[in-house]
Amino acid sequence: MTADPTALRRTALDALTTARSRTSALTDCVDDDELTAQHSPLMSPLVWDLAHISNQEEQWLLRAVAGREAMRPEIDSVYDAFEHPRATRPSLPLLPPAEARRYASDVRGRVLDVLENTPLHGRPLVDAAFAFGMIAQHEQQHDETMLITHQLRRGPVALTAPPPPSTDAAGLPGEVLVPGGPFTMGTSTEPWALDNERPAHQRLVPAFHIDTTPVTNGAFLHFIEDGGYREERWWQAKGWDLVRGQELGAPLFWHREGGQWLRRRFGAVEPVPLDEPVLHVSWYEADAYARWAGRRLPSEEEWEKAARHDPATGTSYRYPWGDADPTPERANLGQRHLGPAAAGSYPEGRAPSGARQLIGDVWEWTSSDFLPYPGFVAFPYREYSEVFFGPDHKVLRGGAFAVGEVACRATFRNWDLPVRRQIFSGFRTAKDA
Ligand code: AVJ
Ligand code: FE
Repeated sequence: MTADPTALRRTALDALTTARSRTSALTDCVDDDELTAQHSPLMSPLVWDLAHISNQEEQWLLRAVAGREAMRPEIDSVYDAFEHPRATRPSLPLLPPAEARRYASDVRGRVLDVLENTPLHGRPLVDAAFAFGMIAQHEQQHDETMLITHQLRRGPVALTAPPPPSTDAAGLPGEVLVPGGPFTMGTSTEPWALDNERPAHQRLVPAFHIDTTPVTNGAFLHFIEDGGYREERWWQAKGWDLVRGQELGAPLFWHREGGQWLRRRFGAVEPVPLDEPVLHVSWYEADAYARWAGRRLPSEEEWEKAARHDPATGTSYRYPWGDADPTPERANLGQRHLGPAAAGSYPEGRAPSGARQLIGDVWEWTSSDFLPYPGFVAFPYREYSEVFFGPDHKVLRGGAFAVGEVACRATFRNWDLPVRRQIFSGFRTAKDA
């Protein structure tokens, strides 16, 4: 990213505008009743996300950056994610859809003025337009959350998109070798990297093999048909409790009918496509599959090394393909499609190791707990990352088709509880070399 303020402003404006058109697409495609309904106790009503996005934007870009007064101080607590768990949000005094939309456009109008007139240097919050980038990423993250709500929602199809491109992956090796040695993990130079991606530091990672592509539905079916969900030996104790307590026997949204596996995706029911990366599995299912396959999940550092380290130059890139921004030819991001592409697609996005689809398509579970890097400093607020550090959350990497470009890079870290299944989660496996 350039230090030229005009170019920076344009980049920030683009990111905010891209996020807003996605937010509108996700909230304009259903009626007011559907916006205020709770489609799953796991999720907020869509209209909560809509106003929360703008409340965060107001707090950071209008109040923290520009020193303005609160526009509607009484609503801050309603949209504070820590005060109200998702299940309770429908009973809050939420802004009705028309008011939430008006608030969103009022905030955005003022933000564009602030972006035009604020010097983009001299304070950590505004250096390189960081706060604007952070808020664009935040909106994209809630767009992903709203897409999960759409996936959980029952009823007629509301979203459409063209199918992803697919490449003939015949002849691709099943796994690639990542040579041992040190590499640079994390970043101190990416202007919009969030606090948990910082700082850059060296890690020594022994050689390992990692799957060329994410694990497919077809491969996962072998695990199911081999009785994987019925054999305790593949499961961690808490995973086995989950399997028995919820009678799990397949990924979320799958069901068997007339001897065939079907899946529901955004309201459409279709046969499970065997060559697509598996989606909607918990960390426990990914871990059990890997053990059944005689392998293991990659650690977070292994994943990042496979995704950005070039042994030829000894450098870590921003993305598997180098430092250039994502394009539709390199990665399946931004909800351009409503699902992952077949395993082996996006050859232009491959890493130096030869691994494909590390960025986009499906989030990939790693074996690692979500922990701070050495030298971590919470910025600009503890509630983004710091309060989630510890053994309760597992790290996911790489982003999914549902992740905005601005919120995805080879250093980006996502995390969730190991029981989570409604997220756009898949995985790949690894083994020691
Ligand atoms: C980083 C995806 C785990 O959605 O809970 C949104 C992002 N933080 N608002 C989440 C986030 C505050 C966060 N994740
Ligand atoms: Fe949020």
